[in-house]
Amino acid sequence: MVSTALRKTGGEDVEGGVGLTALLVAAARAIETHRLDSLAQDVYAEHFVRAAPACAGWPVRIGEVPDGDTNPLWGRFARYFGLRTRVLDDFLLSSVHSGGARQVVLLGAGLDSRAFRLDWPADCAIFELDREGVLAFKHRVLAGLAATPRATRVPVPTDLRGDWVTALTGAGFDPAVPSVWLAEGLLFYLPGAAETFLIETVDRLTTPGSALAFEVKLEPDLLEYRTSPLYVATNRQIGIDLLTLFDREPRPDSAGALAAMGWSTSVRTPFEFSREHGRGPLPEPNDALEGNRWVFATRPRT
Ligand SMILES: C[S@@+](CC[C@H](N)C(=O)[O-])C[C@H]1O[C@@H](n2cnc3c(N)ncnc32)[C@H](O)[C@@H]1O
Repeated sequence: MVSTALRKTGGEDVEGGVGLTALLVAAARAIETHRLDSLAQDVYAEHFVRAAPACAGWPVRIGEVPDGDTNPLWGRFARYFGLRTRVLDDFLLSSVHSGGARQVVLLGAGLDSRAFRLDWPADCAIFELDREGVLAFKHRVLAGLAATPRATRVPVPTDLRGDWVTALTGAGFDPAVPSVWLAEGLLFYLPGAAETFLIETVDRLTTPGSALAFEVKLEPDLLEYRTSPLYVATNRQIGIDLLTLFDREPRPDSAGALAAMGWSTSVRTPFEFSREHGRGPLPEPNDALEGNRWVFATRPRT
C-alpha cells in the first residue's frame, strides 16, 4: 500500500494546481471538436472551459488563437490531446465491444466525458476516479446541461496517492467482471510508489482478457526540456508550469512490470499515431513530447 501521508500538489479543486490541467485538456478537446478534420468530438469540453473563471480568455476554437496552428500551446499541444483522445477512445471501445470488458475505470478522469459521448453497451459501468473538487465541478457543469450518460456512470472521489481501492470497490467495482482501465495524462503527476501500487492493483483486480492503457514520460531529466516551446507557452499563456506539477522522482518501468506479470504490452510513440491518422504532432527539436509513450496492455486469457 502506498503511504497515505499525501504530498500536496496544489489546490484540490479544478481551478488550482494539477486540477487545472484537466481544464487545459478540455480546452484542447474543444478546439479539436471544432476542427474541420477533427480526430475526436467532445461537445461537452467547451462548456467546462466556459464554466471555470480560471479559464477566462482561453480559446475553444483554433480561429480564436491569433497565431492559430503555429501557437505551441493551442496549436501543436492541443492537437496532441485531440490525437490522444481519439486513440484512447478507440482502445476503450475495442476493449469493450471486442474484448468483452464490462467495467471501464478512468483513473484521473478529470473532465473526460467518455461516459456521455461514446457508444457503450447498456450493461457497462464506467468508474471515474479523481479528486473530489474536480468531480464536483464536472457534476455541476454536466447537470446544468442535463447531460445523460450512455452507460452506468460512477464518480469515485479519491486521491490516487492513497488507498483508492476501498473507494473503488465500495462504489461497486467487481474484480470478477472483465474490465478496461485507463490512466491518461495521470502517472507523471504521481509519486513513483503510487504508480507502482496502481499497476500492481490493476493486475490484482483484473480478470484474464482485461486491458489497461496508460501514458508515461521516459525522459530521465524533464528539466532538460524547460526551454521547449510547449512548456514555455503553457506557462506564459495560461500560467500552468507543468514542470513543477510533474513528479520528478525516477519513474518505475511500468510496462516492464506488467510484462513480468505476464501481460502483453505494446509501447508506442504518439508520432506513430499522427502518421497513421495523417494528422497530429510530429517530432521537432527541443520537443517536450519526445519521451511520451502510450502503453497498451492486455492480460492474456490463458
Ligand atoms: C491532465 S489531467 C487529465 C484528465 C483526463 N484523464 C483527460 O485526459 O482528460 C490530470 C488529472 O489527474 C488528476 N489527478 C492528478 N493527481 C491526482 C491524484 N493524486 N488523485 C486523483 N486525481 C489526480 C487531476 O485532478 C486531473 O484531473
